[in-house]
Amino acid sequence: MCRARVRAWFFPLLLVIGSLTQSWRGVRSQAVKEKVYVTLTHAAPCVRLLNNTHQTGCQSTFRGNVGVLHLLASPDDISWVLESGPHSPYVPLIPARLFNRKVMLPLRTSTRIAGALVMIDDKNVTSLPSFSHEKRCPNDGYGIYKPDGCDVDWNEVGTGLDFEDFPFPIFMLSDKNETDDVIKCYEKHNKLGVNDSAPDYPLCAVQLSSHMHAVTDTVTCRRRSSLQNNLTPQVVCDPLGSSNIMNLLIPANRTKSVVFAITRLDSRSFFWDRSPGAGSVVTSFITLLAAAEALAKLPIADINLLEKNIAFTFFQGEAFDYIGSSRLVFDMLQNRSFFTLEEVDSVLEIGQVSRPVGDLWAHTDPISNVDPSVNNGTEELVTLLKNAGLNVSRDEKRKLPPASLQQFLKYRNLSGVLLSDYQNAFQNKYYQSVLDTVSNLDLEYPSSLDTEKALNYVGPLAANLTRIATGVAQTLYMKAARSKSGDHNVTASNITVARLLYSFLVKTNNSWIRSLLDKDADKSLIVEHALSTYVGVAFISVNPLTRLLYMVMSNLTGKRVSLNETACKDPVKYHVPDQEIFTERIGIVPPSRTPRLNLFYCLKPSKVHPECNHHFPTHW
Ligand SMILES: *[C@@H]1O[C@H](CO)[C@@H](O)[C@H](O)[C@H]1NC(C)=O
Ligand SMILES: *[C@@H]1O[C@H](CO)[C@@H](O)[C@H](O)[C@H]1NC(C)=O
Ligand SMILES: *[C@@H]1O[C@H](CO)[C@@H](O)[C@H](O)[C@H]1NC(C)=O
Ligand SMILES: *[C@@H]1O[C@H](CO)[C@@H](O)[C@H](O)[C@H]1NC(C)=O
Ligand SMILES: *[C@@H]1O[C@H](CO)[C@@H](O)[C@H](O)[C@H]1NC(C)=O
Ligand SMILES: *[C@@H]1O[C@H](CO)[C@@H](O)[C@H](O)[C@H]1NC(C)=O
Ligand SMILES: *[C@@H]1O[C@H](CO)[C@@H](O)[C@H](O)[C@H]1NC(C)=O
Ligand SMILES: *[C@@H]1O[C@H](CO)[C@@H](O)[C@H](O)[C@H]1NC(C)=O
Ligand SMILES: *[C@@H]1O[C@H](CO)[C@@H](O)[C@H](O)[C@H]1NC(C)=O
Ligand SMILES: *[C@@H]1O[C@H](CO)[C@@H](O)[C@H](O)[C@H]1NC(C)=O
Ligand SMILES: *[C@@H]1O[C@H](CO)[C@@H](O)[C@H](O)[C@H]1NC(C)=O
Ligand SMILES: *[C@@H]1O[C@H](CO)[C@@H](O)[C@H](O)[C@H]1NC(C)=O
Repeated sequence: MCRARVRAWFFPLLLVIGSLTQSWRGVRSQAVKEKVYVTLTHAAPCVRLLNNTHQTGCQSTFRGNVGVLHLLASPDDISWVLESGPHSPYVPLIPARLFNRKVMLPLRTSTRIAGALVMIDDKNVTSLPSFSHEKRCPNDGYGIYKPDGCDVDWNEVGTGLDFEDFPFPIFMLSDKNETDDVIKCYEKHNKLGVNDSAPDYPLCAVQLSSHMHAVTDTVTCRRRSSLQNNLTPQVVCDPLGSSNIMNLLIPANRTKSVVFAITRLDSRSFFWDRSPGAGSVVTSFITLLAAAEALAKLPIADINLLEKNIAFTFFQGEAFDYIGSSRLVFDMLQNRSFFTLEEVDSVLEIGQVSRPVGDLWAHTDPISNVDPSVNNGTEELVTLLKNAGLNVSRDEKRKLPPASLQQFLKYRNLSGVLLSDYQNAFQNKYYQSVLDTVSNLDLEYPSSLDTEKALNYVGPLAANLTRIATGVAQTLYMKAARSKSGDHNVTASNITVARLLYSFLVKTNNSWIRSLLDKDADKSLIVEHALSTYVGVAFISVNPLTRLLYMVMSNLTGKRVSLNETACKDPVKYHVPDQEIFTERIGIVPPSRTPRLNLFYCLKPSKVHPECNHHFPTHW
């Protein structure tokens, strides 16, 4: 995967009011008098994404697109921007509830549209029954079933707009003050007169700049990158990537059979880097972290009795055609991982679990489980989950939902279960969108709590996730110990779950996270909000969420040793006795791109002169 090298991570969005004597079009525009500029700094763009054959997403022209604002208060208002309004090109101002295929697709084919602004109040989602722009069957065609072989609309509310190609820029407005500024500007200057008469100049317009090196598809983009490389050091595309995190309970060379406990770390959204992923992924990886801690706390003598290893694995890039899990499986096939695929005993995947309504569901693949020995192991996992106190049902006939487990099953029939809170369709109606936030979860803090108290507050969601984490940990223990009953010492900590919820869903700036990080740790990890779950591009190395998770994981499951940095990085050379801690217990497997995938993510560097951030360009 790849995205262009962006020199300035800044996407200017300007609100402009001016007395125009001519239409906005034309090579030489008229001087703009009495200009008022407002730069909207909180707006987030939709960006260009390329795969092998197609491009999706959005971008502006070189100097940014300019159009007259028009509010779409109802779907009928679209005819003004598409047909009757005399001041095209327009930039429709679209409330979140109208951000759907019916409104957005007709805009694509019109020459009268310069861009679009979508107003999304990400602090208050109660007014929207659903908001998801993933496909109805996410990652369809990249797993074990043929393209269109997914006969279930798992994400039944998905519009699929993430996969459409728009010929103009689209920005999201979420900051209340900025949205109010834009609406005020529209109401004052652009509102239609009596009997829908057109407003007069001056008109309120907006300039959207999000210029990217979109060049049709990945192959073209990479070729152009390498051509440019010969002339200038500029790279047009950068791979999308980060790192998977794998943590082994037992050093890898001690066992020949391993139970994989997996989940994913990343989500996505229509708007760049606005992917909170609260219900899609965060609550899932919190559950697995808590289970990992529960097992790592066991006395080392108990752990040494286990017959199978347990690999806690967190995949990155799964939202983009399973980059992380396909990379791990690829490495296994190449004998470049800790384990080969043959050594995988079984896989237990934690899917979305934040909205249990009574039962949990164990999803399994009907095709591989035709083999009785595969089904035997799968059935054993389901039985152990029940023995561990979870109320789990298995639906043997239904195909697997989108799951990292599918990448394992592509190359080997093995026993595996995806644990989830849904049977037929995601309960999460905001799957992989900017609104998949903490406000959709039942995570309310009593208003009397300050940061310190909220951090350690065990509410109903924390209690539920703790119960699931304990069940998962017990199941993994029984599977690895070949035992039918659990170990009462294996219990997840509700305080850990509470702290993880606060840190990954509310803000990382809290005493717990600060206490885990070394003094010289990356300060960018400590912020007043939750970290984005967007995978990011590989050239910026590992994204903040992955770095933080690695630290948290080390603290919850690791052991502190006093070593200097040199010795820590090369324990073999320095004959460090407890070297397994560094060489094997925690390993990072970079996903980067695999030869089979070649999905690229391209952003064109913003070449807009810095001046343009302050001045309206006179030519465009
Ligand atoms: C959230 O949106 C709903 C419906 O639009 C509205 O009734 C409610 O007042 C809003 N809440 C806040 C806190 O803005
Ligand atoms: C590329 O993306 C388009 C649009 O989502 C899709 O139709 C196509 O199948 C994808 N191609 C590949 C090779 O993945
Ligand atoms: C929004 O505007 C109000 C009033 O002008 C101001 O007090 C407040 O700080 C602003 N909020 C933000 C987030 O800029
Ligand atoms: C608006 O339209 C109505 C009916 O078509 C007409 O009677 C009225 O005069 C119009 N008003 C103006 C200000 O043009
Ligand atoms: C595993 O590797 C460590 C360090 O490389 C070594 O000391 C140990 O003897 C190995 N254990 C087995 C069972 O091979
Ligand atoms: C991986 O190791 C197995 C067993 O040693 C061997 O059969 C296989 O050819 C190896 N695969 C690669 C790609 O090297
Ligand atoms: C906790 O789980 C129970 C039973 O599965 C469910 O009824 C309840 O709504 C859950 N609460 C939260 C906050 O998830
Ligand atoms: C099925 O699994 C059980 C352990 O759960 C094992 O004892 C039995 O031999 C297995 N049967 C087959 C056919 O693999
Ligand atoms: C948290 O766990 C502890 C120890 O298991 C238990 O005593 C306590 O009641 C739990 N707190 C909540 C709020 O569930
Ligand atoms: C729990 O741990 C304690 C000591 O850490 C040990 O004595 C006890 O046997 C363990 N219980 C079980 C059921 O393994
Ligand atoms: C984890 O962090 C706590 C502080 O919150 C610290 O006391 C403890 O030693 C750390 N544990 C490890 C293994 O680093
Ligand atoms: C780091 O520790 C190793 C072994 O304990 C020692 O040999 C080495 O000199 C130390 N290096 C520094 C820079 O202190």
